[in-house]
Amino acid sequence: MQVLVLHGPNLNLLGTREPEVYGAQTLAQIDAELSKIAADAGARLESFQSNHEGALVDRIQAARSDGTRFILINPAAYTHTSVAIRDALAAVALPFIEVHLSNIHRREAFRHHSYLSELAVGVICGLGANGYRLALRHALESLEAGA
Ligand code: DQA
Repeated sequence: MQVLVLHGPNLNLLGTREPEVYGAQTLAQIDAELSKIAADAGARLESFQSNHEGALVDRIQAARSDGTRFILINPAAYTHTSVAIRDALAAVALPFIEVHLSNIHRREAFRHHSYLSELAVGVICGLGANGYRLALRHALESLEAGA
């Protein structure tokens, strides 16, 4: 696949998890919309969710040799804690956009810092599921421009 979408812990609960913060759409609905946008643009997209830091690190490492050219990642709580995910993204050296459904800067202070943002092409937060769609549009445009 060319675009890899990674979702961190607890995002499998979207739809029922604090809907006032994270919206009513399920992860399956979000992923299906992203797949359709990618397919309509003639691109291949794969989504992967895990509640485990090591599984996310493994999937990022695999992206080095599976044809991935762009990553969209919502690291969820690992945003604020994971040097390992940051290091994996640095190691594979693929462009990535960091996405958050909520505006992490309007929330608790511990959510204001991200270990990833410094390495990201860009960061989208606070736009709900639309943030993923906008990030995907950017990824597809930049892949097209570079093709
Ligand atoms: C989140 C924000 C994080 O602080 C939180 O731990 C999440 C989701 C978001 O999408 O808004 O699980 O990444």
